[in-house]
Amino acid sequence: MKAAAGRAAADALVKSGMKLGLGTGSTAIHVIRRVGELLAGGTLKEIRAFPTSFQSRIECERLGIPAFDLNAPELGGTLDLTIDGADEIDRENRLIKGGGGALLIEKLAAYNSAAYAIVADESKLVEHLGPAFPVPVEVIPEARVSAARALEKLGAEARLREAVRKAGPVITERGNLLLDLRFPGPVDPVALEAELNRIPGVVENGFFTRLRPVVYVARSSGPVEIRA
Ligand code: A5P
Repeated sequence: MKAAAGRAAADALVKSGMKLGLGTGSTAIHVIRRVGELLAGGTLKEIRAFPTSFQSRIECERLGIPAFDLNAPELGGTLDLTIDGADEIDRENRLIKGGGGALLIEKLAAYNSAAYAIVADESKLVEHLGPAFPVPVEVIPEARVSAARALEKLGAEARLREAVRKAGPVITERGNLLLDLRFPGPVDPVALEAELNRIPGVVENGFFTRLRPVVYVARSSGPVEIRA
């Protein structure tokens, strides 16, 4: 399902000459692989990619997709299109992202793109953002305790994300920590996206509510659905 969504979005949306944001995760990687195939076959030309994590950068390297820093003159801080995955998608195509820990650079790509698309399987569709999936908040290491306290005052349980096969916490690609927030019930994601970032030491949070991406949803049967 993940591969079907990734291929469908890449085939429909990616055009030669684009400045392209490439997301992170087990679904977005299929977009990168399809772009690699289309470049290798000559269907696509002159793609300038901005990978949002080590995972996507390494995949670009492996496939020969030209990748740049967002500040590089080739990109100039803007993108034509970003395609990424998501952890939760509500009926208005608002998102929770950051399950893979890459939310900071993913948001930078998304909010500097002229167009934004999400690829997902149907398990990501939810009625309300929040209660089921913890919302990641990236904090500088010095704010681990104070930010967790401030976040708990907002009614959430804040848990430091622990690494797997490395003792201690996850360290993000920018040297920060992640606090995963569990809310007891449905929340107002638009208000929280702004409010969480006002806490000192918070760098970014995993609510993505200011864009209305087109969503490519793969279902267990039938064609990939396009939800605008
Ligand atoms: C990475 O930080 C995330 O935002 C991913 O895009 C999100 O977790 C979806 O990942 P999967 O496609 O692996 O579920």
